[in-house]
Amino acid sequence: MRSYSLIAPAKINLYLEIIGSRPDGYHELAMILQSIDLSDQIDIHASSTENIRVYCDHPQVPIDQSNLVYKAAALMAREFPKAFSNFGGVDITIKKHIPVAAGLAGGSSNAAAVLVGMDLLWNLGLTQSELEELGASLGSDVPFCIGGGTAIATGRGEQLSPLQSLDNLHIVLAKYRSLEVSTPWAYKTYRQQFGVNYIQDSEGLAARASAFHSEDMVKAILNKNTENIAQKLHNDLEKVVLPAYPQVWQLRELFASQPGVLGTMMSGSGPSVFAIVESQNQGQIVKERIREAIPDEDLELFVTHTIKHGIKIAQ
Ligand code: C5P
Repeated sequence: MRSYSLIAPAKINLYLEIIGSRPDGYHELAMILQSIDLSDQIDIHASSTENIRVYCDHPQVPIDQSNLVYKAAALMAREFPKAFSNFGGVDITIKKHIPVAAGLAGGSSNAAAVLVGMDLLWNLGLTQSELEELGASLGSDVPFCIGGGTAIATGRGEQLSPLQSLDNLHIVLAKYRSLEVSTPWAYKTYRQQFGVNYIQDSEGLAARASAFHSEDMVKAILNKNTENIAQKLHNDLEKVVLPAYPQVWQLRELFASQPGVLGTMMSGSGPSVFAIVESQNQGQIVKERIREAIPDEDLELFVTHTIKHGIKIAQ
């Protein structure tokens, strides 16, 4: 095959706890990541040139070497020079549906799709863990985005323990189009304000990460108990992002006050906010109520649900 079309789903964080600093300057995290049915499409075509070219008609998405998609293709070319010289470069088209700079791992998922797509295009036969290892060098969320579903993520976010997948948890998701939160800013500000509480020693960090595997949120997921999952939603980054972005705080409060909302939380470093609801129908009702309360066209709203998969070939 000379081309592949891949589905690249977004993720939300059902849980994000910052437990300490790492020698590499990143943070040690305990997270639960969850794929949702809101996806970009990535088309990869072998171009028979030596170039990597990225196409995207979304005004907020760069198409130069700063795009993670470009970096993923360049990484594959460096790692597999024989395949690169046999098959040549690639043209990559991103069809964007996932809000940009939203805490939904849109860019990471696009990069994950490029790794999976080029593995197929170049007949490399890489395993999922080999792909995840390549992904970890591109970004902390990339390894999760490859397999997707539901997973505990520790370390930088790249150490994954898959959980029994939660499909069909109903979600309403909201994001102000023009609002972007810088992930490095969110973590840096958190470190400035709460760094004194970090676990300092490596044994303590490892113990916290390991204890997390048997905590209430994980149990709620294993028991598929939607109400408990909704009650245990947690995101430490809310402590710095919500005060700095009052619009996001108000949105979250509005979600929390809606009948039928079981729980609400910001995803990742924001500014997207999601709510867990009982049914798709309830999701539509909540979406309409939010739209009535905030008739601002800048606010994007989606009714979606959790899914069991990460990157897959488009049908
Ligand atoms: O890994 P990724 O490029 O997605 O991370 C973006 C930024 O978020 C990093 O540059 C870092 O500032 C922050 N970060 C962190 N600790 C993590 C993950 C991300 O401090 N575990």
